Amino acid sequence: MTHARVSGTGGYLPEAILTNADLERLVDTTDEWIVERTGIRMRHVAAPGETTSDLALQASLRALDAAGLHAHDLDMILVATTTPDQIFPSTACLLQAKLGVGGCPAFDIQAVCSGFVYAVATADQFIRGGQCRHVLVVGAETLSRITDYSDRGNSILWGDGAGAVVLSAAKEPGVISTHLHADGAHRSLLEVPAGVSRTDVTDDKIRMEGRAVFKMAVNTLDQIVDETLAHNGIAKSELDWLVPHQANIRIIQATAKKLAMSMDQVVVTVDTHGNTSAASIPLALDVAVRDGRIRAGDLILTEAFGGGFTWGAALIRM
Ligand code: UT7
Repeated sequence: MTHARVSGTGGYLPEAILTNADLERLVDTTDEWIVERTGIRMRHVAAPGETTSDLALQASLRALDAAGLHAHDLDMILVATTTPDQIFPSTACLLQAKLGVGGCPAFDIQAVCSGFVYAVATADQFIRGGQCRHVLVVGAETLSRITDYSDRGNSILWGDGAGAVVLSAAKEPGVISTHLHADGAHRSLLEVPAGVSRTDVTDDKIRMEGRAVFKMAVNTLDQIVDETLAHNGIAKSELDWLVPHQANIRIIQATAKKLAMSMDQVVVTVDTHGNTSAASIPLALDVAVRDGRIRAGDLILTEAFGGGFTWGAALIRM
């Protein structure tokens, strides 16, 4: 039986940093409030002209290098993003062109903050089905482009960045199970209303009912964690690491508590990356792989909740 295994990880953050002190100058907020309510101290912001596919390219090159592969080895390119460079072509196709490899399928996955988990699940299916040996899975965002910096209710959260993994066919799992869900009934709680077919306005920004989203995120993640453990018949204590979507430190702490995990077993990057939506899990994974915390053989749980609503989890043996 063939499984999908992480053969390399990579991450990239744009150079410019937006601190809480910078936000204090833009909107009625304080560093103290932001740190206490979100755990965020700074976030990275793409330079003018720097696009999602540019960030994705840097993360992808690092992941390919870590996997010891060349872009020509890829059988598929998936980009999870909610901030594509343009309406079309997909950011995955633009990334493919930047990597200089034509031919293999390339497409975007739009599941907002859960996009990376959705993309891992998709890649896993193609590898287990025998259609692909190496799939590049990227989460990349330039959320600063859809952030309303006059709205203190959510502008303090978002950051830009990209993370990538290469999933490769292997005899041992790898991706053990993935669990995906969505419920489209809550659009007004978290959305960018502008769209191609609904309106002709294309410069809209993120709107969010923060408190309501927060409650749903905590409750839903609670359930997806149970679902994942029960499906695999494993105990909480068997997990080595939680690599959560980095939405808010309080949401992360709630999931860690549910799993009876010490925060030492949780990869936290929200303090320096902010919430980078689809990019947050692969960025966090890459940080912990490169600093030596996550090692081959470790059992990790990733989970995410985001606009849609969408949510999902993946249990992965590194
Ligand atoms: O990633 C995908 C999904 N997204 C999430 O999971 C994000 C979920 N939501 C959150 O992370 C949090 O709800 C926020 C960080 C957005 C907001 O934190 P909160 O603790 O839920 O605050 P709140 O909206 O309940 O507001 C509490 C108070 C209010 O003042 P009053 O009405 O109590 O006087 C707000 O007006 O804090 C005020 N407030 C702020 N004060 C200073 C809201 N935003 C700010 C701010 N600075 N930036």
